[in-house]
Amino acid sequence: MSRRLLVTSALPYANGAIHLGHLVEYIQTDIWVRFQRMRGHEVHYVGADDQHGTPIMLRAEKEGITPRQLVERVLHEHARDFFGGLPARSDAGDLGGFLISFDNYHQTDSDENRAFCEDIYAKLKAADLIAQRSVEQFYDPVKEMFLPDRFIKGECPKCSAKDQYGDSCEVCGATYAPTELKNAYSVVSGATPERRASEHHFFRLSAPQCEQFLRDFTQGSNRLQNEAANKMKEWLGEPGDNRLSDWDISRDAPYFGFRIPGTDNKFFYVWLDAPVGYFGSFRNYVAKQQALGRDISEVDFLDAAGAKAAGTEMVHFIGKDILYFHALFWPAMLEHSGYRTPTQINAHGFLTVNGEKMSKSRGTFITAQSYLDLGLNPEWLRYYYAAKLNGSMEDIDLNLDDFVARVNSDLV
Ligand code: MSP
Ligand code: ZN
Repeated sequence: MSRRLLVTSALPYANGAIHLGHLVEYIQTDIWVRFQRMRGHEVHYVGADDQHGTPIMLRAEKEGITPRQLVERVLHEHARDFFGGLPARSDAGDLGGFLISFDNYHQTDSDENRAFCEDIYAKLKAADLIAQRSVEQFYDPVKEMFLPDRFIKGECPKCSAKDQYGDSCEVCGATYAPTELKNAYSVVSGATPERRASEHHFFRLSAPQCEQFLRDFTQGSNRLQNEAANKMKEWLGEPGDNRLSDWDISRDAPYFGFRIPGTDNKFFYVWLDAPVGYFGSFRNYVAKQQALGRDISEVDFLDAAGAKAAGTEMVHFIGKDILYFHALFWPAMLEHSGYRTPTQINAHGFLTVNGEKMSKSRGTFITAQSYLDLGLNPEWLRYYYAAKLNGSMEDIDLNLDDFVARVNSDLV
C-alpha cells in the first residue's frame, strides 16, 4: 500500500550560515525522502527557516538592520545552500547547492505560522493547560531587556576564570546557575544585571493528562529509536515521580516573535513557534499546490481525526540536541489542541571534523558555501555522509584524509 508522508528536517536558525554539521541532517533526510519517492509513496518534504528569538534580534541590531531584513537575507542564503535558491523544487533535475529536494521551503515569521500558534495557544488555554505566574530573571537595566542565560557572563564561582557563561565554566568544567557567577555582566551592554520579576505564561506539561499521554507516546511502537525512548524514560521517571515541569512559553518585549493574544508585551518563546513552523510551511505548500490544481488536503495531514482517517504519517528528522523539544513539548502541545502527533522522530548524532568539534580557529568550521566555492562536488559529501550514517544517535566524523581517499577510490 502506498504511504502518505509529511517529512521534515529541523528548521535552521536564521542567524548564521549553513555548515557541514547542519548538512548531516538535510542530506540524511533527503536521501530517505528520495528513497520513499522512488518506492512510489506520496511524500511531502517541507522545511523553513527558524527566524524568531533574542539572538536574531540582537544580531540584526548589530548589523544596523531590522530583524525582518536580516531573516529575509538569510532565508535566501539558506535556500541557495540547500537547493540553489528559492523556490524549492523537488524535481531533482535543476537543483543546485547540496541538492536537498524540499517540496517547500518557508519561514516561521509568516502569517500561516502565526495563525497556527494562536490557534494552538487558544486550544491549550481552553483545555486549562496554560498557567500564568511570576518569574524572576536577569534584567539588563541599560538595554532594558531580560537576558537569556547565554547573554550573561562573569567569573567562574569555582576557579575564578574570567568571561565564563552563565551555566558552565570552559576552563574548569564546573556547572552552576547564572546567579552564582561573580561580577556578572550583560554581554549586550556590559551593565551589571539585576533580578527582576515579570509574569510568564506556561504550558502545563506537569498536568497528569500530559504525563500520561507522553508515557504512551514515547514507549512502545517505533516512534523513537531505542536510545531516544530510553532517554524519555529517564526524563519521565516512574509514574508518580512528577518529573516534568511546566514549560515557560513566553518572553517579554523587546522580542522578535509573535505577540501572545490578549497581552500587550508578551511574545511566544521561539521554541513554541519553531516546530509549529512545520505546519506553517505545509499550509503554505498546500495553498501553492492547490493553486496549481493539485488535489491535496491540509486536514488529511494536520488534523488529528483527519490524519487518522486518511492514514497519513508525519516523520521528523532532527539532531539529538533537540530531542526534548520534539519528543515532549511538541507532541504534548499537538495532542491537546486537536492536531495530529508525530508518527516517527529520527534523531542523528553530531558531526565532528577530524575527531573534534568543528572549530573556527582550527579551520574545521566549514560552511556549505565555502565547500561549494572550492569547486568541490556536493555529491561527494552526500556520498561520504551516506556511507557513514546509520539509524543511531552516535556522532559521525568527517575525517578529511579519509574523505579524500574515499572520494578518490569510490567515486572519481
Ligand atoms: N532552530 C532549531 C531547530 C528548530 S526545529 C523546529 C535549531 N537550529 S540549528 O540551526 O541550531 O540546527 C538545525 C539542525 O541541525 C538541528 O537538528 C541540529 O541538531 C542540526 N545540527 C546543527 N549542528 C550540527 C552538527 N554539528 N552535527 C549534526 N547536526 C547538527 O536547532
Ligand atoms: Zn572555572
